[in-house]
Amino acid sequence: MQTESIQRTLYITGKAMESCAVPASPDYRIETLGDPDLVFSGASGETTRHLVIFLHEEDECTLAKIESTLVKKGTFHRIILVGSESSLAALDEADRRRIMHFITRPAGAVELAFLIHKAFSTMSEEQWFNAERIQYLETLTDMRQDQEDLITIGRSLSTEKDPDKLLRSILMLSKKITGADAGSIFIVEEGESKEKHLRFKYSHTFSKNLPYEEFVLALNRNSIAGYVAVTGNILNIPDVYKLSKDDPVAFNSSFDRLHNYRSKSMLVIPMRNHVDEIIGVIQLINSKEYGNSSRSTGNEAFEVVLSTPEDFEVKVVQFSPRYEKLMEAVASQAAIALENNRMLKQIQTQFEEFVKASVTAIESRDVATSGHSFRVAEFCKEMARAINNDSGEALSCVKFSDTAIKELEYAALLHDFGKVYIDLAIFQKAKKLFPKELDNLILKMDYLYRYTEMQYVNHEREQLERALAQGRAPEGLEKIREQKELNLDRIRHIKDRLVSLNEPTVTDEDPEVVLANILKEIESIECRNPDGSPLIILTDHEKTNLLIRRGSLNPDERKEIESHVTHTYNFVSRIPWPPEYKNIPEIAAKHHEMLDGTGYPSGLKGADSIPLQARIMAIADIFDALSATDRPYKKAVPLEKTLAIMKEEAKRHKIDEALVDLMIRHRIYEKIHKDLFRQAE
Ligand SMILES: [Fe+2]
Ligand SMILES: [Fe+2]
Repeated sequence: MQTESIQRTLYITGKAMESCAVPASPDYRIETLGDPDLVFSGASGETTRHLVIFLHEEDECTLAKIESTLVKKGTFHRIILVGSESSLAALDEADRRRIMHFITRPAGAVELAFLIHKAFSTMSEEQWFNAERIQYLETLTDMRQDQEDLITIGRSLSTEKDPDKLLRSILMLSKKITGADAGSIFIVEEGESKEKHLRFKYSHTFSKNLPYEEFVLALNRNSIAGYVAVTGNILNIPDVYKLSKDDPVAFNSSFDRLHNYRSKSMLVIPMRNHVDEIIGVIQLINSKEYGNSSRSTGNEAFEVVLSTPEDFEVKVVQFSPRYEKLMEAVASQAAIALENNRMLKQIQTQFEEFVKASVTAIESRDVATSGHSFRVAEFCKEMARAINNDSGEALSCVKFSDTAIKELEYAALLHDFGKVYIDLAIFQKAKKLFPKELDNLILKMDYLYRYTEMQYVNHEREQLERALAQGRAPEGLEKIREQKELNLDRIRHIKDRLVSLNEPTVTDEDPEVVLANILKEIESIECRNPDGSPLIILTDHEKTNLLIRRGSLNPDERKEIESHVTHTYNFVSRIPWPPEYKNIPEIAAKHHEMLDGTGYPSGLKGADSIPLQARIMAIADIFDALSATDRPYKKAVPLEKTLAIMKEEAKRHKIDEALVDLMIRHRIYEKIHKDLFRQAE
């Protein structure tokens, strides 16, 4: 029971003293009470005071008023009233509660001494119970706070995806809970030789803005963090400079000396994962908590500054033992969050590598498009970042989160995945006829040439034989030779025209007129197969292809190529994307839609129907198609011309004008990593 520094006083009024000769004692002071209202109203609440007050029924004061002036922290009192039995009977219920005892006759010294002793001892008991109650209440409040902190930590740790932010979060929350001025996190890592070490990963000191650099410690008992990581024991050290040789750890003061800091109290906790494996250590330094003081704000870690040597002496306390268990729980939550984060990252990396490997495999089928999807993905990411940093009005309300940029990247990597379903020859078709078809046509033209030549040679021979038989000089040979040369020239010319008609270039000549003339010419030249059947130089299929007005693809082939978008959608939709990536199939499937409705596969019209990400991808795709040097049928378009073409396309409402403008202003094309372009350049 607490008895120290208590001021014990016995107050007695003049009238009460007439009936009660209170005995003197070294345990208390006796004071005569004039006007009780005045005396007690000035009483201070700083010292603990135990007061026994003797009043007489004729004293001019009210018990209620005395009581109200005495309700102060640290003041306890007992009232003993002296008077007649009739006034005792007249006391109301409230006043009965206010007095401890009523004396109706002159009391003897022994009785009074007993009464006074009883009054003081009940006050001591009351004080002790009060202190206990306050302590219980504070513990309850602390526990409630701990519970809230744990819930907050659990919630924030489970939602944080960025590992660096997660570590920062763990340390800041640990510091907040324990009121620590400084703290560091060490992570157990496996080196290349499979040997484990501790990496000093993150650190923060509130009172000093100290820089930190990652470094590696051996995983052994030579350092405080190493000791905790190896043994799994929690260390709660009141003053690291007072560690003795018998202690299991020693403090290395080089950091303090270097930064003019004073490490004092330290709490070091192992971080255990779900299989009880230690994956790291949280080291907290210099608790600045006021303990159970009313001054505590619960945020001392970020409010109390330690600058002078005296600050370190006075403001730094030992970490409260209750934080050992609490921080152990926090460290375990942190360890599990870190493990989850690590696994998530691993799964994501594996998935990403798988996607990239698949895209590389598909693109390696055709050298012509190699690297295209990677460049488009890079381009899209740069566009999204530029939108985030752009001050222009058109896109000011758009902001891409890291996840949204990732979503765009995946969509871009997979945008042409559907090409895997398309016949490679169509992609590589550089001219209107496939190379074999052209070879075949040339072969037929050569046959026609030889056939015609042979016809004339035979005709000439017949003339010679006839003349010889008739014994005369041959006639008309000159004319035959002239006609032969004329027709052979025609055939050569037809062949040249066919070869040039096979080119995908656009000319002023109408291919239909050109082909009709060629066919007319061919028809005028007789030619038969060795079996005597007529030789058909151009099949219907060849005619259809040679009639292509733009590019090298006929309508069926174009349709097949365009179907890659639908294949992409069907394939990408089958991947069970997490909710944050749910738009990937749609973005990937709309990269060939044009704002004016002339795109494919759905001919969507207007910015409202085509998502921004798909509009970004359309620009990236077109830029790469124009500027890449690896297309089979054309050379790379110079940058100036590429930009001019794209501006023109924007003006014609094919592609998004604001995005083209942004691309040019931010020079996105200069940011694409050169390694993504083929070396062949
Ligand atoms: Fe495409
Ligand atoms: Fe593409």
